[in-house]
Amino acid sequence: MEKVLVIGANGQLGSELTDALRKKWGTANVIASDIRLPQQQETDNRFEILDALDKAALYRIIEKEGISQVYHLAAVLSASGEKNPHFAWKLNMESLLNVLEAGRELKISKIFWPSSIAIFGPDTPKQQVPQLTICNPTTIYGISKLAGEQWCEYYWRNWGVDVRSLRYPGLIGYKSLPGGGTTDYAVDIYHKALEGDTYSCFLQKGTYLPMMYMPDAIQATLQLMDAPANSISVRTSYNVGALSFAPEEIAAAIRKYIPEFRIQYQPDFRQKIADSWPDSIDDSQAKKDWGWQSSYSLDRMTADIIVNLKVLKEEGHFA
Ligand code: SER
Repeated sequence: MEKVLVIGANGQLGSELTDALRKKWGTANVIASDIRLPQQQETDNRFEILDALDKAALYRIIEKEGISQVYHLAAVLSASGEKNPHFAWKLNMESLLNVLEAGRELKISKIFWPSSIAIFGPDTPKQQVPQLTICNPTTIYGISKLAGEQWCEYYWRNWGVDVRSLRYPGLIGYKSLPGGGTTDYAVDIYHKALEGDTYSCFLQKGTYLPMMYMPDAIQATLQLMDAPANSISVRTSYNVGALSFAPEEIAAAIRKYIPEFRIQYQPDFRQKIADSWPDSIDDSQAKKDWGWQSSYSLDRMTADIIVNLKVLKEEGHFA
């Protein structure tokens, strides 16, 4: 039986991954942590306040609980990172080094740490980006993720720390809101559509980005963490692909259910970030090594989100 610590458990990915880990390992064996308490909490769920920069506190929890797996998800994303680059660098890098050091010194058996399509930049091929390619990211978030990938491989190569990673595309979920990313529009748009509003999109028509529906992201993460260590040939971070669409295409998918839905375009500073990222990803290495396969199309995802988000909104979840 594994004992799991999730760092950054209140976030968009953290909240859903923590639920999935609780189902897999049992509520008593998963400790969620974040810098502040979650808005709602089931009584059985275990939670610790943890600042990912506080190495001593991290070590205390790991030792007290006998943690064997850490999912370190806390990070400042691309758009927020540009507003405060020095803090983004500090949080993203120092927190990763704390976790990697814990892996080495406290002998944690597995670590998961997310990378991102943000490691790519304007020199990267736009279509079907290969696993190994020119990166040259332009955001501090991308730079920190690329450096982090190298640190992960370094800890694996030199000290055998079993750290695994995925380069997530933009993640789309309906259960919680994203914060500070460039791909956030693809979540916001469903909220506005269900509220009957016109959506003012901060990216221009025709901006294609790699995206993934949250159930696929959870599936990929659990699959990677379950794979035998000798099947993992990539110790930086795996390309994983699922969807690729532009804002007008997600709007058209929504109009199949909400025909009066309207979108308008008001690009801001995030356009430049989106333009520096690729359109689509070649994930053949992940398919070959541990059997990755996405399940959701844009239409299937949209159908699922509209039905479920409507219920959550009626119940007052996002009020
Ligand atoms: N979703 C992230 C962002 O937009 C990319 O990893 O910053």
